[in-house]
Amino acid sequence: MARGKFITFEGGEGTGKSTQSRILTARLMSEGRPAIRTREPGGSDGAEALRSLLVEGRADRWSPLSETLMMNAARRDHLERTIAPALEQGDWVICDRFADSTRAYQGAGGGVPAEFIATLERAVVGDNRPDLTLVFDLPPQIGLERAFGRDMFEVRFETKDIDFHNRLRAAYLAIARDEPGRCAVIDASGTEDEVAAVIWRTVMDRLAS
Ligand code: TMP
Repeated sequence: MARGKFITFEGGEGTGKSTQSRILTARLMSEGRPAIRTREPGGSDGAEALRSLLVEGRADRWSPLSETLMMNAARRDHLERTIAPALEQGDWVICDRFADSTRAYQGAGGGVPAEFIATLERAVVGDNRPDLTLVFDLPPQIGLERAFGRDMFEVRFETKDIDFHNRLRAAYLAIARDEPGRCAVIDASGTEDEVAAVIWRTVMDRLAS
């Protein structure tokens, strides 16, 4: 049984990742490629419990260092229980956020040293690196307008100031520039159908051999 493909969706708030990850998963399934959609923080029972602690409440509820440790604990559980078993049985795994979110939010946004995040990432992710990462790019002002009002509770990171969100955008673009073999930048300003078409072409070009 060939190992499945691992695709992560990354980007700032309100960039349309969740909708587009649903569309891609449905299209893969309809074309006979078994696929699951999952998300971070979350995607396993333990990680979903940690998610509530992480994304609800006041912006200063956790320090960036505490967030880094909790995100990685959630990620390890998610990998062991959901992602790795699915890939081993040949499923495509479509994951809404993964390790680049920690580099961007806790690293560039929160000031946790990049070397510390990289060390944890090596220990927690190991060889389970994504085959493809789609980096959704949109000016933060537009993304935040889209994101606010969508979920009344999960707004902890959205309420951080605009400088924080500008740092996220720059960090994601830098990740994509540094790892062009893994990453593709997706202009998220188009219509839902336009963005979905770009994503499908990118996935087929890069992974459908
Ligand atoms: P979501 O709104 O895309 O579901 O993601 C939940 C929030 O968690 C989002 O504001 C980004 C944040 N987050 C981090 O800060 N670091 C991480 O490693 C992950 C996976 C998410």
